[in-house]
Amino acid sequence: MSDQPRPRASLRTAVVWEVLKDALDRRAKATGRDTLDVLDTGGGTGNFAVPVARLGHRVTVVDPSPNALFALERRAAEDGVAERVSGVQGDVLGLFDVVERGGYDAVLCHGVLEYVDDPAEGVRNAVDALRPAGALSLLAAGLGGAVLARALAGHFTEARHALSDPAGRWGDGDPVPRRFSAEQLTGLVTAAGMEVGAVHGVRVFADLVPGVLVDTEPGAVDALLKLEAAVAELPSFHAVATQLHVLGEKRA
Ligand SMILES: C[S@@+](CC[C@H](N)C(=O)[O-])C[C@H]1O[C@@H](n2cnc3c(N)ncnc32)[C@H](O)[C@@H]1O
Repeated sequence: MSDQPRPRASLRTAVVWEVLKDALDRRAKATGRDTLDVLDTGGGTGNFAVPVARLGHRVTVVDPSPNALFALERRAAEDGVAERVSGVQGDVLGLFDVVERGGYDAVLCHGVLEYVDDPAEGVRNAVDALRPAGALSLLAAGLGGAVLARALAGHFTEARHALSDPAGRWGDGDPVPRRFSAEQLTGLVTAAGMEVGAVHGVRVFADLVPGVLVDTEPGAVDALLKLEAAVAELPSFHAVATQLHVLGEKRA
């Protein structure tokens, strides 16, 4: 690990990245292949797809947004991984119109279930895209994190609204169409026929801490990253995480 201070942006991705990287390493060892086939559903501009390609894997990104796919292509080229990243316009609910069923060692579905009409179908498709013993990386907005954030911002009625709203929304102005509890997400994964390998709470503190504390205090980003890593696996903190990550393992 480098001694350089880590950028603030890493607070959003560090926990998921470590879990994902481990899962890919395990899959590479198990298959004896250094280059895995990875599908990133709703992969957008490549926040995960490009770093995964930099590990040496082949990544297919399916996303409905032409603008995101254009930005992805440019980013992959800038990072020297253009030949390992392909962007395809498509929808996780119509996944097999554009990609092969059962063709991937790992499928990512990060920040997408919030926006789809039928999250259960989205997860089923992601699972069906996997080879036997493949890994699913599922990341979605956590209900409790939103309740806590609204309450700490003084929006108590909105916080209570999110708590009782079936979609976990705090009101009409909420930009996120749907949020999930850890139980709901793991339920979707098991209903799709997968084993739950691990659940992690993501951004438990990062979005609540005033930016000035993180930006001005020497070593604060590193210390906060370590704290986030320490609580990520503790079920008691899943209830208040901004996002929840579920690692699923398909039966062999
Ligand atoms: C919050 S962004 C997440 C992007 C990326 N996965 C990441 O983690 O940085 C949501 C992405 O989901 C895509 N999206 C929205 N609805 C979708 C659908 N039905 N199927 C697949 N992708 C979808 C959007 O175009 C956008 O790129």
